[in-house]
Amino acid sequence: MTVGKWGYHPGNGVDNFLDKKCKIGVLFCKLFTKISLTLRSEFGEVCPYGFFLSFRGIRNFSRFVIFYHFFIYMSSESYHIPALLPEAIEGLAIRPGGVYVDCTFGGGGHTRGILSALAESGRVYGFDRDKEALGNAPEDSRFTFVHSDFRYLSNWMDYHGEEGVDGILADLGVSFHHFDKAERGFSFRSDAPLDMRMNQSAGITAAELLEESDERRLADIFRTYTDLRQSGQLAKAIVTARDHSPILTTFELAEVARKVIPPQREKKELAQVFQALRIAVNDEMGSLRQMLEESLQVLKPGGRLAIITYHSIEDRIVKNFFRSGTLDGEVEKDLYGNVKTPWKQITRNPIVPSAEEVERNPRSRSAKLRIAEKKKDVR
Ligand SMILES: C[S@@+](CC[C@H](N)C(=O)[O-])C[C@H]1O[C@@H](n2cnc3c(N)ncnc32)[C@H](O)[C@@H]1O
Repeated sequence: MTVGKWGYHPGNGVDNFLDKKCKIGVLFCKLFTKISLTLRSEFGEVCPYGFFLSFRGIRNFSRFVIFYHFFIYMSSESYHIPALLPEAIEGLAIRPGGVYVDCTFGGGGHTRGILSALAESGRVYGFDRDKEALGNAPEDSRFTFVHSDFRYLSNWMDYHGEEGVDGILADLGVSFHHFDKAERGFSFRSDAPLDMRMNQSAGITAAELLEESDERRLADIFRTYTDLRQSGQLAKAIVTARDHSPILTTFELAEVARKVIPPQREKKELAQVFQALRIAVNDEMGSLRQMLEESLQVLKPGGRLAIITYHSIEDRIVKNFFRSGTLDGEVEKDLYGNVKTPWKQITRNPIVPSAEEVERNPRSRSAKLRIAEKKKDVR
């Protein structure tokens, strides 16, 4: 299976985009130019189709088509480039008339991949807790956008009258858009209010979390979600700083963190501090756990669940759940010592991006894809 199979959608790279749209545009341009020149040589300047068949008209029209599609390509590409796109779509083993859920719609790259493998009768529900993602929704009657946390998967499927789905995909974390839009407060590279909520109309901001949490809770957050040796020191530094004045911006947090982070590891560890806070603000592990449990209720027997993780803790949760069917990873065995699990593992080891993908999309480098199938005899 090649990436090109999924057609024109963000993440396929400029080459594929050029293949699919621009090359067709260029072919049209050449064809109409030829017709125009032939007609002009036949009829002279009194050609009845005037401007449209004139060389300049056609050339400008073709340029417009090419730039229009290039603009669409660039705007969707800059929202997000999907990781492991062909691998995830292939892993879902899509049934053409099936019902699919993309738990993390984002820029819609994976959703478009699913849609391109579906027949007219198929359906896709795209969840995103960030309403800005709605701007990327494809104009396609088979698609429904759900502005919600994916932890409520089962309720939403009931609401839409779906009795079971054939596949679920989740590409966890945040999109490039979140990092690149400074005012969302996810990045230490630009100064902005410390927000970090994926859904800006719910929950508390990162600044509020820093203000309300005691030192122990802060230390727990950094200890759990970073490799920092100085998690306790960082929590202490935050509490000392906020006693003086509240930490309200990304730069203010970075300044406090720099007091305990060794300069030679500054970039890497600042990124981890910000990531840890983001995970806590959005209760990302809570959402993941609930969605995993609900996936078993929602999937039809034989349906597939594909999860792309970017953090070792997420990956461990998914790995244990696929192995045991429980969130605590406790395996149940039958009389003969066989592990009782509702899942058939499709990937024993996670699929990771190729060197070529990482070069094209460095932000995909920590992605890990795991796929499991709900056993056919599990109701
Ligand atoms: C890594 S991006 C997914 C990108 C997407 N696969 C694409 O191809 O563009 C993750 C997206 O999921 C959303 N998201 C993260 N956690 C969520 C949750 N618990 N519920 C709903 N949406 C969530 C984020 O807002 C973000 O837009």
